[in-house]
This record gives sequence, C-alpha cells and structure tokens, in this order.
Amino acid sequence: MKKLEFQNGDKLPILGLGTWKSEPGEVRKAIVWAIEAGYRHLDCAKIYQNEKEVGEGIAIAIESGLVTRKDLFVTSKLWNNAHKAEQVRPALESTLKDLGLDYLDLYLVHWPLAFKSDVTFAKEPEDFHTYSEVPLGETWRAMQEVKSEGLAKHIGVSNFNQNKLNELKEVGGQQPEMNQVEMHPFLPQSGLVDYCKSHQILMTAYSPLGSPDSRSDKHENDPKLLSNPIVKEIATKHGATEGQVLIAWSITRDIAVIPKSTNKGRIKENFEASQLELDAEDLQKLRDIGISHRFVDGSFFTGDNSPYTLSDLWDDH
Ligand code: A2P
Repeated sequence: MKKLEFQNGDKLPILGLGTWKSEPGEVRKAIVWAIEAGYRHLDCAKIYQNEKEVGEGIAIAIESGLVTRKDLFVTSKLWNNAHKAEQVRPALESTLKDLGLDYLDLYLVHWPLAFKSDVTFAKEPEDFHTYSEVPLGETWRAMQEVKSEGLAKHIGVSNFNQNKLNELKEVGGQQPEMNQVEMHPFLPQSGLVDYCKSHQILMTAYSPLGSPDSRSDKHENDPKLLSNPIVKEIATKHGATEGQVLIAWSITRDIAVIPKSTNKGRIKENFEASQLELDAEDLQKLRDIGISHRFVDGSFFTGDNSPYTLSDLWDDH
C-alpha cells in the first residue's frame, strides 16, 4: 500500500475507510471488516454521529489482536459549532472519548465557517457566528495548541480553498498538513492540488465515488459517476469495478482517498483498488471526461440565511 509522508516522516496509508453516512448499527462491523481486509487508515468526524460505534469497532480489532493502536491512522474533524479557542480542546477530548483513543493521528477543521455552540446544523442567521465574532485564525491557533499538547499528531483542514489557506498563513506557526476536499474525475481540483503541493499540504479526496447515497430530490439530476461510460470502459479494460477505477485514480495522483462502505464485499473490493494501475491512456480519458460537478455543493451553509457565501468555500465562485 502506497503511503503519503508528512514533513516529520510520519506516514499515512493512501487508502482509508470513510465513515460519513455509515449508520449506527452497521459501522462497528464495517470497521472490523475493514481492518481484517487490511485498511489501517480510518476517516471519522464528530458530525457523522457515529464515533462511539467506530471506537467500539477499533476496540474489537485491537482486543482481538488484529492490530495495535500504533498500526492505525485515525482522523477526525472539529465540528463548526466548536470553533472558539476555548472549545477546540474539549471538542477533541469528546471525540477521543467516543473513539476510545488517547490521541488522533490527524485532526481537521471540518469547514471554514462557525456555528453557535448549541447549533448542530445552522439554518437561520442567528445560528451562525460571523468571521468577526470567531475569526478562522482563532480556531487555527487552538488547533496548533492541541497538536503541541500531543492530542493530535497532525493538524489540517477540510473544505478550505486557496484564499482560506492563505489566511492561515497570516496566523503563522504550524500550517495545515492536510486539506480534505471533494475530489473525483468530475471535480479534479487541479488548481487546489497544485497549490497544496507547492505548500507541502497533503490532500485527501472525499466522496471519491460521487456520494451515490446522497440521493434526495435535490440530487435527482446529478450526473452519475459510478455509471459514467468512460469509467465503465476503463473498468472493463482492466477487469476491475467502476469503484476500483475511481479509487485508483486518486492513488495514482498521490492523493489519499476514503471511500465509504459498510458492505463487507465492497469494503474488500475497494481495498483491492490499491493493486490497480491506471495507464496514461486511462488518465487522459478521465481528464477528458467532459463533466464538471460538485456533489457536496455547500449550499446548505450559504445563501440568504447565512453570513457566508460560496466564495468562502470554493475557489471557482
Ligand atoms: P455501501 O456502504 O452500501 O457500500 P462515497 O465514498 O463517494 O461517499 O460513496 C459511498 C457510497 O458508495 C455508499 O452508498 C456506498 O454504499 C457506495 N459504495 C461503496 N463502495 C462501492 C463500490 N465499490 N461500488 C459501488 N458503490 C459503492
């Protein structure tokens, strides 16, 4: 398994298990199946509301001798309602308690925007904090603190565009070591990838399969990534599945990738994508796929009822 390397030499297995939308009642088993299949990188977040059960899965795997804590690379994310300086450490401690761990390998600021502390999903203007109330720099300094205390070995961000990353440069000190964003052949993020590479920021691709379980009325007309004809053609050529092609695409670009699955067969299938090598012709075809689409569009945090706009989130707005 390919690994990405942090500046201090620590390594991150490039393929991890995603847990967004992994249902309680399913995710405990999924974690154990994934570790049995060879996964050592687990991607979690407070807001996925399943960290306790993820922790139970990790505990089962450790107690049964499958792995030790040191073998695992565990990521979690600070939710938007805990961005004030004094909230960051307690939020991380709560995640650690749920996961049953005493440190995280990587802690990320989940989104570059802040909610009031009693709000889980902000809907009304009064649910949000503005940047003047809770500047991103305040949150980032607190993230630097939890790293220096050893509660998180590495720190980074998620859903940050180049402007927001530049703002963190102004704060000084430890800069983000990771930026986790949506990425797949419909959204290759080339500009952001170049920026992160030139600033020694590693990247992780979320929704690498196009989040096919996000189908609500709002998403009815979204293009379908897994059944795209180019993806299918490349899968047939290699005797692989469409999911494996999409995962291998990230691995080839040296970008960590975290497909979510709670299905034993697909967990194993996705892990085996690390054996699939795409060639130059495949990569060219995927570059020319001709569809541009963001599945997680950020509209739920922006608009008339929010002090934030899409340009706070994405470079192309
Ligand atoms: P399931 O958990 O039943 O396997 P993403 O990581 O882009 O958010 O996509 C996750 C969704 O894709 C889940 O609905 C998951 O369902 C499904 N999925 C995971 N692996 C595969 C695969 N190899 N082929 C098809 N669908 C998959």
